[in-house]
Amino acid sequence: MSIEYQRLCEAAKVAEEAIGRADTAIVLGSGLGDYGETLDDLKRVKYTDIPGFSASTAPGHAGELLSGVKNGKRVLVMSGRFHRYEGIAIRQLAVPVYVFRLLGVKTLILTNAAGGVNLAYQPGDLMLISDYINLTGDSPLTGPNIDEIGPRFPDMSNVFTERLRGIARQTAEEMGLALREGVYCWMPGPCYETPAEIRMIRLLGADAVGMSTVPDAMAARHAGMDVLGISCITNMAAGILDQPITHQEVLETGRRIQADFRALIDRILQRV
Ligand code: HPA
Repeated sequence: MSIEYQRLCEAAKVAEEAIGRADTAIVLGSGLGDYGETLDDLKRVKYTDIPGFSASTAPGHAGELLSGVKNGKRVLVMSGRFHRYEGIAIRQLAVPVYVFRLLGVKTLILTNAAGGVNLAYQPGDLMLISDYINLTGDSPLTGPNIDEIGPRFPDMSNVFTERLRGIARQTAEEMGLALREGVYCWMPGPCYETPAEIRMIRLLGADAVGMSTVPDAMAARHAGMDVLGISCITNMAAGILDQPITHQEVLETGRRIQADFRALIDRILQRV
């Protein structure tokens, strides 16, 4: 057994004692962070108490793993994620996802705040992620492969499971909630992009842009999980509107659509 896999097992043991196991987990993005507090029978453990985890430094990210019950079903929640721009080793971004796998998770729901690149989008829209573009040139799978987790060269042809996207589309339709669907582009951050970069990624086929989610999705597919991704378009990307982009705006829009977002996630969780 590789030393890295042993470390993951130790982390999973500590996490399991604190919060238990489940077959579904959700990662909460900026401004969506307190979804976990709406669950029943909450259990929690701080990242800093799990060996091998880094502390979460991004504002709006709590830095805890939670588990709780929604509609009779237990779900694990990552309240606050790690980002490449925090300067932690890139492989650390995969650790929570791999630990989820060791806790029995087969379905991972990823959420984020993102800038709207598609000119038809508006702040406050929700977007189902159909695929991603990675413009960081980086990957949390860089380095020795953890064979116990997955293959050296994982297939990324169907990152965002069609069956889960179908559930999300149908759920949103039943709720009368508009749900966009498009390609998410992972950029390095922490600077927001320039208008020229946004024009470039629109030409490349991106509909939304952000600083997260893709490494989580890579690790999840590596570990053989089904993945669903939902972006909250919190602002229009750089250069589209004649105004600067602020983290404040990102958090405020997140809060504004929190009720719709929570309701959508609640109902999706009932069906996955
Ligand atoms: N760019 C990158 N990341 C983001 C944005 C953005 O415009 N909005 C929210 N996260």
